Amino acid sequence: MPAANTSLSRLQINQVRNLKGIRLDQFQRVNVFFGHNGSGKTSVLEAIHLLGMARSFRGSIKSLVSHGEESCTVFGALRPGNTTLGVQRSVSGEVRIKIAGTPVRTVAELVEYLPLQVINANSFDLLMGAPGARRRYLDWGVFHVEHRFFDQWQRFQRGIKQRNMLLRRVKMASEELSVWTRELAQSGEALSQYREAYFRLLLPRFIAIMARLAPSLQGLELRYRRGWDKQLSYQEALVNSTDSDLEQGYTHVGPQRADIRVLTDGHSAADTLSRGQQKLVVCGLKLAQGQLMSEMGKGHCTYLVDDLPSELDREHCGLVCELLASMQAQVFITCVQQRDIGDVWPDHDQPALAMFHVEHGEVTPVQTGDSAIDK
Ligand SMILES: Nc1ncnc2c1ncn2[C@@H]1O[C@H](COP(=O)(O)OP(=O)(O)OP(=O)(O)O)[C@@H](O)[C@H]1O
Ligand SMILES: [Mg+2]
Repeated sequence: MPAANTSLSRLQINQVRNLKGIRLDQFQRVNVFFGHNGSGKTSVLEAIHLLGMARSFRGSIKSLVSHGEESCTVFGALRPGNTTLGVQRSVSGEVRIKIAGTPVRTVAELVEYLPLQVINANSFDLLMGAPGARRRYLDWGVFHVEHRFFDQWQRFQRGIKQRNMLLRRVKMASEELSVWTRELAQSGEALSQYREAYFRLLLPRFIAIMARLAPSLQGLELRYRRGWDKQLSYQEALVNSTDSDLEQGYTHVGPQRADIRVLTDGHSAADTLSRGQQKLVVCGLKLAQGQLMSEMGKGHCTYLVDDLPSELDREHCGLVCELLASMQAQVFITCVQQRDIGDVWPDHDQPALAMFHVEHGEVTPVQTGDSAIDK
């Protein structure tokens, strides 16, 4: 089992986009990668994401591997304990994962070692995208604080696949459908209860964080919808919808339709908020998850924040930095100019900063206080 509060102490990146062979071992709690457009900053975060999740956070694996190469590899060591992680992905689709030198078969084993929270351009999907993005967000949180969740989640995925297959069969034994409906009702109910319990804990934390991040944003609300009529048990809802399920060949109601609605003064946040306000809400959602995880004794997560200053004015960028600093979690942030983060990170936490200059796929640690490069 991974130790709580792990952080990355060493990183080796081979053939990830324009990063051919990078070794870094000067990480602090807060690590800032700065450099010009196209230098390789996002690729560094992508490499850390590959180490923690065995996949990219943008694009396909094929596009992640340096052009002309067959595979990319990332190694890392964690503090405390010096546990090593290694992930190799090849263009042909092969995945190799090692934990402490031993091959493991599933990504689920890996993700507990380096729980990651990503804030990047794709994170706007949390507000603007389809409900699936919000369910993945919610499930990330439940997975990391409730160890029974994953079994129920897997059971539910199997159940719904099976039930949908039956619904599409021309000749179907109705007893068989009832069996799978009961099975689905059980796992769906359990899954939904874990989500609801988690949401109840998350909500007040999100509201408190938003009061600090964007005090002028009044009337911000999150509402959880579980995916079927609140008056009914899931079994009842499934039975009620059987006719239309049969007609259309899939299961209409259930946790696969759950969503979180984000509202401001009763209006959809996606339709109302400015781009900068949206980014603050996204940061608030991600920070609330990290805070809840550590408050529940599950340790800190590691934040990967791509281009934090974009869309934010200096004051709001500073407020996000203040909150990140107060989490005491390890953070990897990218920006264009060193001062973009260096100048707004809270004074009292400046000793926790390490700066890295990224240029043409090379990453060079910069002494903090050494203003030679970019300040
Ligand atoms: N598969 C690949 N093989 C080689 N180079 C790649 C590959 N994919 C992308 N690149 C290049 O890698 C470089 C680094 O891209 P990256 O997105 O990390 O830059 P960045 O520093 O984050 O830039 P920006 O400030 O514009 O966000 C770019 O020049 C890009 O064209
Ligand atoms: Mg980038």
